[in-house]
Amino acid sequence: MSEELLTVTGLVRRFDGLTAVDDISFAVHQGEVVSIIGPNGSGKTTTLNLVTGTIPPHAGQIVIDAEAITRADPVHVAELGIARTFQNGRVFATLSVADNIEVGLHSRLKASRPLRRLSRIFLLRWIPLLAELFVAIVGTPAARRERAEIDARVADEIGRFHARLGPRQDDPAYSLSYANRRRTEIARALALGPKLLVLDEPTAGMNQSETAEVLDQLLELKAQGQAMLLVEHKLDLVMRVSDRVIVMDGGRIIAEGNPRAVRHNPVVIEAYLGRRRGASEGEAR
Ligand SMILES: Nc1ncnc2c1ncn2[C@@H]1O[C@H](COP(=O)(O)OP(=O)(O)OP(=O)(O)O)[C@@H](O)[C@H]1O
Ligand SMILES: [Mg+2]
Repeated sequence: MSEELLTVTGLVRRFDGLTAVDDISFAVHQGEVVSIIGPNGSGKTTTLNLVTGTIPPHAGQIVIDAEAITRADPVHVAELGIARTFQNGRVFATLSVADNIEVGLHSRLKASRPLRRLSRIFLLRWIPLLAELFVAIVGTPAARRERAEIDARVADEIGRFHARLGPRQDDPAYSLSYANRRRTEIARALALGPKLLVLDEPTAGMNQSETAEVLDQLLELKAQGQAMLLVEHKLDLVMRVSDRVIVMDGGRIIAEGNPRAVRHNPVVIEAYLGRRRGASEGEAR
């Protein structure tokens, strides 16, 4: 097995009296696609929120590429190479598709945001803001180079979804179809060139052909060696794209293995599918 990219050990997160994530441990290796499945409320999104620094854990450790990120904030986690999308989709409604993708790159700006480290020091926060304004007005060769690089990066990501986002790149996100908003969000995460791409139900609300399109895109990313941590209810997609599947129930991991083994595991069938006898085989919701 290749090197571990993400290592999660003994992670715990409580909300009032409820333990939403209850002592879970798992790893994602370089180039690996790991999916987390489980019934509604089993702790999948909370796990992703912990891994991406959106919320802090009450116990446990998270390490990315040998660097501990257990209490790092989301911006720092993104800088260290974890990019994500959200279960309910998060795009800036009044920004264009291109600007929405560019937003993700803001933390990468160096020449256009000089002295940005000082912004972490409360009393000195005005210095980087002034320096940024100066560069924006005067312009420097480095800032112009950086601008060109960012434009190219955004164009690359739009190109990934060319048929869908190409003609809409200057349109505001509020005018997009639901599927295109989700594509924009995935493009924004990918623009960061993340070591690990974290996707929370990327096909939620999509029809069958839109889901098939996302599956193809995930398979292409996987072929390019992109490591992914995926939460998804559509089991057919999960089984086709994943190297390994983790099954959660009640905040705990109840099974883990390759897609075939997990699909036939009686504990999983009972916990995950057993409560949904009315649901279709393809989508266990
Ligand atoms: N911010 C919060 N405050 C209080 N309770 C929360 C919070 N976030 C999650 N929970 C609770 O934690 C449990 C796990 O929620 P989580 O969103 O992780 O589930 P999930 O597996 O992603 O479910 P779904 O498939 O419906 O998205 C649920 O009981 C949920 O109500
Ligand atoms: Mg969820």
